[in-house]
Amino acid sequence: MACVVVVGTQWGDEGKGKVVDLLTEGARGIIRFQGGNNAGHTLVVGSEKFILHLIPSGILHEGKTCYIGNGVVVDPAVLLMEMDRLKDRGVAIGPEKLRLSDRAHVIMPYHKSLDIAREKAKGAKAIGTTGRGIGPCYEDKAARCGVRVVDLLDPEVLRQKIEANLAEKNFWLTKYFGEDGLSAEKVYEDYLAFGQRLAPHVADVSAELDALCQAGGSLLFEGAQGTHLDLDHGTYPYVTSSNPVAGSVSAGAGVGITRISDVLGVVKAYTTRVGGGPFLTELDDENGKWMQEKGAEFGSTTGRPRRCGWLDGVVVRQAVRLSGITGLCVTKLDVLTGLPKLRFCLGYQTKDGRRLDSLPASLAVLSSCQPIYEEMEGWQEDISVIRQYQDLPASCRAYLERLAEFAGVPLSMISVGPARDATIVLRNPLA
Ligand code: IMP
Repeated sequence: MACVVVVGTQWGDEGKGKVVDLLTEGARGIIRFQGGNNAGHTLVVGSEKFILHLIPSGILHEGKTCYIGNGVVVDPAVLLMEMDRLKDRGVAIGPEKLRLSDRAHVIMPYHKSLDIAREKAKGAKAIGTTGRGIGPCYEDKAARCGVRVVDLLDPEVLRQKIEANLAEKNFWLTKYFGEDGLSAEKVYEDYLAFGQRLAPHVADVSAELDALCQAGGSLLFEGAQGTHLDLDHGTYPYVTSSNPVAGSVSAGAGVGITRISDVLGVVKAYTTRVGGGPFLTELDDENGKWMQEKGAEFGSTTGRPRRCGWLDGVVVRQAVRLSGITGLCVTKLDVLTGLPKLRFCLGYQTKDGRRLDSLPASLAVLSSCQPIYEEMEGWQEDISVIRQYQDLPASCRAYLERLAEFAGVPLSMISVGPARDATIVLRNPLA
């Protein structure tokens, strides 16, 4: 039995969905433990493309159970829409296949309204959130006034919570932001109906995962976003409102930390970021354009173009430290094919000439740094057809090995194309 966590090592969009999809074969349960529908995983199976925001990507596999843990914030309208869309495409989702934690917090319409209103009010200082209500929902969780999935099943509690919350939120929306308020009755009716549809899936996920482990089943935890969007460890305040680091599996799924056997860190072969915030290796030139176009770097949730730049070893090494990563999965390596020279960032130079080997807490200091690069040879060969590590061009292997050596962990997988089989697997902890 193994318990494997997959996390993003950069600012999200590393290609975690494909890695999780590949590992799913060896797992019985696939679990989301943080974030919400701010995430977006594009999966390519055969000629079909699936974009999932809430449902773990393992849903496409037979005989697996997918879990949405208590640490996830759930927009029930989005969850039901994803379930319906999958059903329309022939993927049946019975209650035995998708389990939803009774303790997960629910994204309400006022969370979305507040998210959008706040961003608008911030103007140029906006975080660039996905506008899905993620932050305001986690705020209510911490303020102990949130609506949980279990509340959707209790009409009396649901009504009381919505009325109490709207008394305050409508004040903010109308009086402070000058936006429209929301009708408690309408929200109540909509959410009661969502609860009725979701009821068969609602479960004590922590207890079910424990039972699965006791029976010898392997678990696969699917991280959303990336390490440097972590509320505590990321480039605050340009972060999300949850903890994408591996340790949050324990709080977000109710699984003891001692159960975790492996943590895989997904690294895109270059760096991307959506939304605001510092990004030292960002490129505003032909190389950046190359990555954007060849890598189709547009957000799968908001469609926004992603900012692109060179691979930052400092960012990856810090993620290894923060999550105790045991293996690296490098994705989108094929996107770099054809670039004559590559650059790899191995440190930051401060304005006063000091060298930093990790990201400082102060955004002012970080933003004023210059990246220190090592130049490496590119490769011209089509690597998308290669399935054996030793068949990769020498300069390609040198790039990968420099990353692994710098980060201090071995390579586990290398993705050389979007298809499921376009992958070189060196070590699969769930095999
Ligand atoms: P929020 O999570 O919607 O509050 O957005 C906060 C920040 O995290 C913004 O910069 C978003 O673009 C970023 N973000 C949130 N989810 C993802 C993701 O799945 N991939 C990449 N960036 C994300």
